[in-house]
Amino acid sequence: METATLISKFQAVFQTETTPRLFFAPGRINLIGEHTDYNGGYVFPASISFGTYALAVKRTDAKVRFYSMNFDDNGIITTTLNNLSYDTNDDWANYPKGMLAMLIKEGFSIETGFDVLYFGNIPNGAGLSSSASIELVTGVLLEGLFDLRINRIHMVQLGQKVENDYIGVNSGIMDQFAIGMGKKDHAILLDCNTLEYQYAPVDLKDYVIMIINTNKRRELAGSKYNERRTQCEQALQDLRSVLKIKSLGELSIETFEEHKHLIKDKTNQQRAKHAVYENQRTKEALAKLQSGDLAAFGELMNQSHLSLQHDYEVTGIELDTIVEAAWEQTGVLGARMTGAGFGGCAIAITPRNEVDTFKENVNAIYKEKIGYDATFYLATIGNGAKEITTEGVL
Ligand code: GLA
Repeated sequence: METATLISKFQAVFQTETTPRLFFAPGRINLIGEHTDYNGGYVFPASISFGTYALAVKRTDAKVRFYSMNFDDNGIITTTLNNLSYDTNDDWANYPKGMLAMLIKEGFSIETGFDVLYFGNIPNGAGLSSSASIELVTGVLLEGLFDLRINRIHMVQLGQKVENDYIGVNSGIMDQFAIGMGKKDHAILLDCNTLEYQYAPVDLKDYVIMIINTNKRRELAGSKYNERRTQCEQALQDLRSVLKIKSLGELSIETFEEHKHLIKDKTNQQRAKHAVYENQRTKEALAKLQSGDLAAFGELMNQSHLSLQHDYEVTGIELDTIVEAAWEQTGVLGARMTGAGFGGCAIAITPRNEVDTFKENVNAIYKEKIGYDATFYLATIGNGAKEITTEGVL
């Protein structure tokens, strides 16, 4: 899409001739390290070229007007700077409202209202973090419009706080971190315990990362996400009767195996097992990627999926069908679900020259079993949230 089209839309919606400033925040995929972030472990995500655009202009009064091209039917959602509490009627606009409220609460000086138009090309409910993308694009637009200096990691943490305290989803920090700190052609190995991180070049040579959308929508708040989190907390509690640990992320496989009998509930034991083994796989994955051993990297992805399927139980028939179909295809190095699970997307490392056959075959198997099509995208790893120029093509 031309940026000029977005600008015209902004001007038509808000009946103005002013040229807005343009901001962008990506979505994310996670290569490996799933459901480890809130367990104090490692994650290995990357920001992608799909994301959320926001066009914004400052106002002179205290009104704040939100419009999303993805929710045209909702029209303009209006509020004021002194009325920023969560309101179900405001629907999607609670995400940017939450970010605004959070920044004000932290003492950032936002003295006037603004008009903002959003346009997102992340497939909705696909588990590619459209909500964190809206939070972070709102963070960078407020930073830009009001000349704020917000430490980027602080902005990332505030985004997570919006999810946790404002929206009511107990998510970890991975999505906001990947989106706020993303770097073109790199994935980020993040230690969620310390927030220490390192960038790793994603050089897949003759391979590409395919994103496969099951088109089964997942809603994080309504899902079993919070339940998984509680189960891990209970497992940790049990282990702490003997071990001096603050999170499951601190456990080696050996220590876990030695002490897992302390976890009273069988299901909780399985959940903790996933968290510990997945954490180990994620650390290994960095080493494999750095040494160019893509086959071993892919194998770790496969093990990750199996663990999410059998021990963490967050996959479901749609994701399992897609991933198993991907495993069968010529030359595929690895495939797994990505994100929270319960529907949403999978990723697969596929030979570049097999992409078309891959799509055809995987879709045929999927449609036959599930009854509707999957959607395929080629992942491009792009930069994190930022202001962009208003000229050109998106
Ligand atoms: C969602 C959450 C993240 C993370 C993943 C699972 O995307 O927002 O914090 O827990 O699920 O890895």
